[in-house]
Amino acid sequence: MRTLLRVLTAARELWPWYAGIIATSVLVAVTALATPFVIARATDEVVAQVGGGGGGLLTLVVLAGALLVAELLNTVLTNIGGFLGDTMTMRLRAILSSRYYSKLLSLPQRYFDNQLTGTVINKLNRSITEVTQFLQMFSNNFFPTLITVVAVLVIAGFYSWPLTLLLLIIYPLFTWLTALTSKRWQKLEGEKNVELDAAGGRFAEVIGQIKVTKSFVRERTELDTFDDHYRRVVATTHTQSAWWHRMDVARRGSLNVIFFGIYLIIFAQTASGQFSLGDMVLLIQLVAMARTPVMMMSFLVDSSQHAIAGSRSYFEVMDETPEPLAAIGEVRSPDLTLTPAAGTAPAEPVTYDWPIQPDAPTIAFEHVSFGYDSDAEILHDITFAVARGERVALVSESGGGKTTLVNLLLGLYRPDAGTISIAGTDTTEVSLAKVRAQIGVVFQDASLFSGTVRENLAYGRPHATDAELEQAARRANAHEFIVRLSEGYDTLIGERGVRLSGGQKQRIAVARAMLKDAPLLVLDEATSALDSRSERLVQAGLEELMADRTSIIIAHRLSTISTVDRIITLRDGRIDEVGSPAELATTDGIYAELLALQESGTKRDKRRMAAFDITG
Ligand SMILES: Nc1ncnc2c1ncn2[C@@H]1O[C@H](COP(=O)(O)OP(=O)(O)O)[C@@H](O)[C@H]1O
Ligand SMILES: [Mg+2]
Repeated sequence: MRTLLRVLTAARELWPWYAGIIATSVLVAVTALATPFVIARATDEVVAQVGGGGGGLLTLVVLAGALLVAELLNTVLTNIGGFLGDTMTMRLRAILSSRYYSKLLSLPQRYFDNQLTGTVINKLNRSITEVTQFLQMFSNNFFPTLITVVAVLVIAGFYSWPLTLLLLIIYPLFTWLTALTSKRWQKLEGEKNVELDAAGGRFAEVIGQIKVTKSFVRERTELDTFDDHYRRVVATTHTQSAWWHRMDVARRGSLNVIFFGIYLIIFAQTASGQFSLGDMVLLIQLVAMARTPVMMMSFLVDSSQHAIAGSRSYFEVMDETPEPLAAIGEVRSPDLTLTPAAGTAPAEPVTYDWPIQPDAPTIAFEHVSFGYDSDAEILHDITFAVARGERVALVSESGGGKTTLVNLLLGLYRPDAGTISIAGTDTTEVSLAKVRAQIGVVFQDASLFSGTVRENLAYGRPHATDAELEQAARRANAHEFIVRLSEGYDTLIGERGVRLSGGQKQRIAVARAMLKDAPLLVLDEATSALDSRSERLVQAGLEELMADRTSIIIAHRLSTISTVDRIITLRDGRIDEVGSPAELATTDGIYAELLALQESGTKRDKRRMAAFDITG
């Protein structure tokens, strides 16, 4: 229950809605309670008139009119409450979802290394749906009835204390039996959610890479694994539901026995002349009003269990520690005004001033050590500096830590020891947004988004003009193919750019990095996925991109590496050699070995080269 309260306080800006719902609920309860009183009064009046007394027809009309007014008011108020409930719930949903998203966006890379995308999405959907559905039901149905119950107890107290006593026993008894049930129920629910999240996570992963699944003919096994998860969910539900309903029989059975006592008291006390016939009619109606919510309670408990489980997994994510100095810092609520003043135009680009120290090297690693897991260090004591405008290539065996080094530079992970500075400033001392604004990256996988070519090009600079877009596209050798697409720059490229060839995607990625126009450039195997013709086209674009920029290049072609200013080779996670291509060609290090292997061209040597991700 505490987690549910946390949900409400998390969206405390909705307090006017909460207040409105409480107010209408009270009024709904009052109008509902008026009915039994009027009917009781009418019963006594009718009895009197049958006996020859009473106030005549007019009194009956007034009483029936009072019933009409009470019921009409009740109808209108119930609907106002429903409207407030619906709107509040959707607002709450928007707030919770947006907060979840902004929280995820602020989490470090490491968090995502350990999660399946689909699982993250599944969790969001389930937890938020369950929480909001419960609150909607609660505010639209349960809340007014709960208020009614309290009123019924108080009123019944005026008439007969044994009656109130029996009514009072029902609620703690029912709650106790429910608590007994819910502990086991919740544990089983947790087990179900683990299975559902696993199934959903894998599902999203497979659909996202359906080509691979198809080509390895794994559809059947993937489907079987999926079915296995659901089989276990069904089996758990079987146990869970059987338990729930057995307990429900016990609960309702005891309720039935108590109501037997209640009716007996009402009948007996009326027969003994303690109550009038009108009083009896009133009490029977009040007791019935108290009975409905108890019956509804198992439903309420059921959905509140869901909601509690849901809010728990929601807060599991919300309680993760965000990346220090993340681009999205504090988690805040979205703007939900019905007519936003500013429209949805992207915010003005932020310029991040960098505290440049003119004499410092552009990039400097000092005694950097790092491992993804605490027990396996990948990089040991890495120290090197890159001067302004210099081009440096990183060479190592595959898995030697080149990409890891780039990840560290981008601040995706923090070094375990040592410092990384850009233009003399330690990168841990400024915001990650600032650091990343300094660096343009072209990854091996172009990583585009669904949407148009134009949107993808402008991803790093939303306000770029058409002329700027075209200029970047031309320099990246992309303009010609873009204008040949059916809609030119407005062509939709599909999820992650599936409708483009590898080379086309890569050239858009290069143009995207050009538009970002960052002073530092990182190329991590930017062309290795391409055929040689596409590669030549992309390479020409990359040359343009590298001009006048400090660049770190991880390439898979010796010819690319031979034109850099310096090569840094890594061996066993340490820097092995540093020098110009000409210098390193004459040592017996990795680069010289690669050159020799390329010359020899035997099968065995080619295999050896393949270990370096390098071709001639
Ligand atoms: N996210 C990660 N979590 C754990 N280990 C990783 C992760 N990424 C890479 N590694 C490991 O780090 C080592 C270096 O990888 P990487 O830097 O990608 O090599 P390279 O780019 O030189 O081929 C490899 O042994 C790899 O298994
Ligand atoms: Mg790599």
